[in-house]
Amino acid sequence: QPQGPLTGLRVLVTSGPTHEPIDPVRYIANRSSGRQGHAIALAAAQAGAHVTLVSGPVNLPAPPGVHVVHVESAREMLAAVEVALPADAAVFTAAVADWRVAGAAEEKIKKQGGGGAPSLNLVENPDILASVSRMKAGRPQLVVGFAAETEKVLAHAQAKLARKGCDWIVANDVSPESGVMGGDRNTVHLVTAEGVEDWPTMGKDEVARRLVARIADALARGGVK
Ligand code: C5P
Repeated sequence: QPQGPLTGLRVLVTSGPTHEPIDPVRYIANRSSGRQGHAIALAAAQAGAHVTLVSGPVNLPAPPGVHVVHVESAREMLAAVEVALPADAAVFTAAVADWRVAGAAEEKIKKQGGGGAPSLNLVENPDILASVSRMKAGRPQLVVGFAAETEKVLAHAQAKLARKGCDWIVANDVSPESGVMGGDRNTVHLVTAEGVEDWPTMGKDEVARRLVARIADALARGGVK
């Protein structure tokens, strides 16, 4: 384990998409690759932290020195996060599906003869970031969320900071023309109670190292409050 500014501290990171089952062979998902979240977990481990990475299904190797917990659905992710706590800092990078199919079928849904398609009844998933941000006991000192937006990036991020109760939001533009989804580079804005910092476009690994340096700084000052 490398020594660094996070030595002796625990960091929890979520990453990747979630898969929400429709039936045993089908699911609802999204385009998250997990690259940004995995890069943050690696950077935190390289800074000396004890890191647990709760990851949805991704095509990425486990970052060296990181304890990885694999999950599929949002509800599994929430349960794994609860097991992984307490932590000094938690970074919620995962693109959690907002909805799941109510009462997923236990057998494969068959095509209906004579046409017609089944309708899916969606229900809201638990909001993992909001529930950890609002913990009465054992809340991480620093809770960081992400806001992947396709428009009005900063306005939505500032609203999200208040709505979720987290300390920081890392806002990024994931509109198709940005190339961020699945790509190597990212353009982010760090939104805190103090204001907004615009970071230049850089590799996702560099975003991760800068964010981890900021987290180490905030924890060294005793948190953000
Ligand atoms: O509301 P929205 O999904 O845009 O919020 C994004 C942030 O909230 C991300 O940090 C994401 O990991 C987190 N989130 C979560 N659980 C959900 C939905 C989002 O932790 N069900």
